[in-house]
Amino acid sequence: MKNFRYLVLGALAATALPFLGLVVGAQAQLGPLGRAPAEEGGPLMPPLEPGQAVQGREVYLSLGCVSCHTQQVRPAGQGRDIAGGLGARPSVARDYVLQPVVLLGDRRRGPDLANYGARIKDDDGVHRAILHRVEGRDQFAFLYSGAKHEVPSDRAIALAAYLRSLRQDYPSPEAPLK
Ligand code: HEC
Repeated sequence: MKNFRYLVLGALAATALPFLGLVVGAQAQLGPLGRAPAEEGGPLMPPLEPGQAVQGREVYLSLGCVSCHTQQVRPAGQGRDIAGGLGARPSVARDYVLQPVVLLGDRRRGPDLANYGARIKDDDGVHRAILHRVEGRDQFAFLYSGAKHEVPSDRAIALAAYLRSLRQDYPSPEAPLK
């Protein structure tokens, strides 16, 4: 009977200790993180999101874009993200503090989008990217009207604003721009 009590206590400890370490430890370490300037007197970063981008995130979520795109630039030495032009610097936890849902993703069938806003050349390019033309067929044609899918719907406009807002090209206290 005495041994049984130890067994139960041991099982409880085996569950509770990792929980404390993972959840409570991470919350204690990252919970208070907020916006901060990269240098004294500088602007608070990350920047606030425009309202349309907030709506666009809902569209991104509802269409499952996260199943093919990550939003996390890996440090040099852990992949070719920076060398390949996907980011100006590695992503850090502070980059995500304003986001109600963090869409890091875990599969990269398409390019990482953490810094996509900084790569955009023109508005047409964003809509062409959203359409995802594969072998002459636009995969997301239902977000547009017009014979050539050239007229974006409100959802496509919000999604484009969200994609434009995805930028990690500002310096952060933990990740200065070189
Ligand atoms: C089935 C996988 C898949 C899904 C789902 C998907 N994408 Fe993509 N996406 C890709 C691939 C693959 C590419 C690269 C295409 C190319 O280079 O021609 C791409 C390219 C892009 C690009 C251009 C990136 C760059 O660096 O030029 C953007 C922006 C993009 N996708 C946004 C989205 C959005 C927004 C959604 C949801 C509406 C979405 N994707 C859903 C696979 C996907």
